This record gives sequence, structure tokens and C-alpha cells, in this order.
Amino acid sequence: MMGVVFTELLEAAEARYGLAKVDAALTAANTETGGSYTAVARYDHRELVRLLVELSKATGESLGALVQEFARHLLPVFLSRPEASAGGATPGSVFELLDGLEPSIHATVRKLHPDAAPPRFECTRDGERMVVRYHSHRCLGDFAHAMLTAAAEHFGETINIERRELSDSSDNAVEFVLTPAA
Ligand code: HEM
Repeated sequence: MMGVVFTELLEAAEARYGLAKVDAALTAANTETGGSYTAVARYDHRELVRLLVELSKATGESLGALVQEFARHLLPVFLSRPEASAGGATPGSVFELLDGLEPSIHATVRKLHPDAAPPRFECTRDGERMVVRYHSHRCLGDFAHAMLTAAAEHFGETINIERRELSDSSDNAVEFVLTPAA
């Protein structure tokens, strides 16, 4: 997982909970780097999960709330990166963002950072709804869900997100059905 995800997590957590709690979480998570991450280097994604678990213990915040808070911080940061407007205009709605996520955004991330491995999303329109299938060896379905929720908040849209684990698939895919409020 690219270091930018770690540096953003630590920055957001420090601003919200203070250095002492972040330090406690870093020590308890027993990270390889001791917490000094570089944005473009790669780190084991399991370390990110350990960090989130220890941050939850150190702050008393539930893991779900922490992941959501982190996604709320990360989405606008990612949207301001040049990769986010690689397909032309910056996306202006959740569905526009998701239409470009696989063919344009994460594809550009792969091109610019050959050792990055962003997840694979299959997004298909189904009338008013959009069906989003998430595939990743990292099994960060909760994080993907939180990013979708953060995107709806970011664009000021009310979207019902239904989640289904696709247990028959070999890579622990998760399906999200997004239905905009009428
Ligand atoms: C709703 C929109 C988005 C969703 C649902 C999403 C989802 C995710 C998830 C779940 C991961 C974690 C890695 C994994 O699961 O394997 C990830 C990684 C990443 N995403 Fe996205 N993302 C979104 C938008 C963006 C945007 C706008 C950018 C623009 C630059 C971006 C760039 C990245 C990068 C750089 C990584 C790290 C890749 C790596 O560590 O190898 N994402 N994304």
C-alpha cells in the first residue's frame, strides 16, 4: 500500500486526537518504520489495519467510526490529486467519480506509480442505480464502503448504499448497490 495512505492517516489522526495518542498507537502497532512513512514508498497494508485497530484502542473511537473519519479526510485529498482529473474534468458527482474510477483514476495511479496496486472496481449503471463491485487482495471492503459514503457526503448527495459480500468469488469481492434518494 502506498505510503501516502499512511501519511494521511497519521496527519488526520494527529489533528483530531493529538500526538500522544498517535504515538501510543504507533508503538502498540509495532510498525516496521516506527511511523516515519514516505508518501511514495510501499508498506504492508496489514500494518495500516493494525494502526487503525490501535488508534481505536488509544482514542476509544470505534473502528468503524475511525475508518469513516479517515475516508472523509482522504477522499478530498485524493480528489485534489492530478490523477483524479486524468479523464478530463474533475468529477462532479458520485456516479461521475465512479464512472471514471477504474478506467481513468486508478488506471492513472497504476501508470504513474508502477508498484502501486489500487483495487479494481467494476461499476455498472442499472437504471437509477449503480452496481459497484470491489476486488482487492487486501480485503479492505470496509474502507471501500467508507470511501463511497465519504464521496456521497463530499458531493452533497443522499445515496443508499447496500452491501453484499460475494463469497463465491476467489478474491473476496464485495458488491455495493448505490441508489440515489428520490
Ligand atoms: C469513491 C472513490 C474511491 C474509492 C471507493 C476508492 C477505493 C480505494 C480503496 C478501497 C483503496 C485501498 C486499497 C485496496 O483496497 O486494495 C484505494 C487505494 C488507492 N486509491 Fe482509491 N478510491 C477512490 C478514489 C480515489 C481517487 C479520486 C484517487 C486519486 C488519486 C485514488 C487513488 C488511490 C491510491 C493512490 C491508492 C493506493 C494504492 C496503493 O497503495 O497501491 N482513489 N482506493
